[in-house]
Amino acid sequence: MSESNVLVSPPISSGQGSSAPNAPIKLGVMASGNGSNFEAVAAAIADGRLNAKIQVLIYNNPQAKAVERAKNHGVPAVLLNHREFDSREALDAKVAETLKQYDVDWVIMAGWMRIVTQTLIDAFPGRMINIHPSLLPSFKGIRAIEQALASNVKITGCTVHIVTLEMDSGPILMQAAVPILEGDDADSLHRRIQVQEHRILPAAIALQAAKETVLAPT
Ligand code: GAR
Repeated sequence: MSESNVLVSPPISSGQGSSAPNAPIKLGVMASGNGSNFEAVAAAIADGRLNAKIQVLIYNNPQAKAVERAKNHGVPAVLLNHREFDSREALDAKVAETLKQYDVDWVIMAGWMRIVTQTLIDAFPGRMINIHPSLLPSFKGIRAIEQALASNVKITGCTVHIVTLEMDSGPILMQAAVPILEGDDADSLHRRIQVQEHRILPAAIALQAAKETVLAPT
């Protein structure tokens, strides 16, 4: 990995550990769409860069292409369609219950386009990770790439961070910078940001996995 545009924070202590040293950390991935970040995590596991196992994919959109990717990797996929729940809390309660059923340790929001509530955060305190297509704290929320283009900044990028109740505001684990080029539109810029997302999301999870190994109780 070329490190020139990648910035890393020290791992954050979660106060919990996996059951055995060197045991793969057990991931639950949440996705709403294409699932290229799911694919990047699965690829990193397959080629040994990430000592983890994806226990389950949760998706909220019946059309999400991430499902096909999960099938290809032998990962169970569970549809929790937000339209079938009365409130955000009701959806999140079911998401949390499902993640617990699949014995998940760490939750990865890989393009999960729903605002999460305290209900879910309380189920995995300090153990939810999100990828966002900007250099936070700039351009929080939806249409982050369009926001960056409209602001005329020359550099944007992506951020992996711990999820807290305030959207896109939790402790930053890793970031990668991406220059905005003359003639860029949202699609061209997103494509280059995604190249970096696919590097830093597995790398940030691997840092957490390494910390679990080092700090696991003997
Ligand atoms: C990614 O670019 C991710 O940063 C973004 O959704 C995309 C999902 O792509 N997430 C957000 O905007 C969250 N606020 P993918 O489905 O190909 O992984």
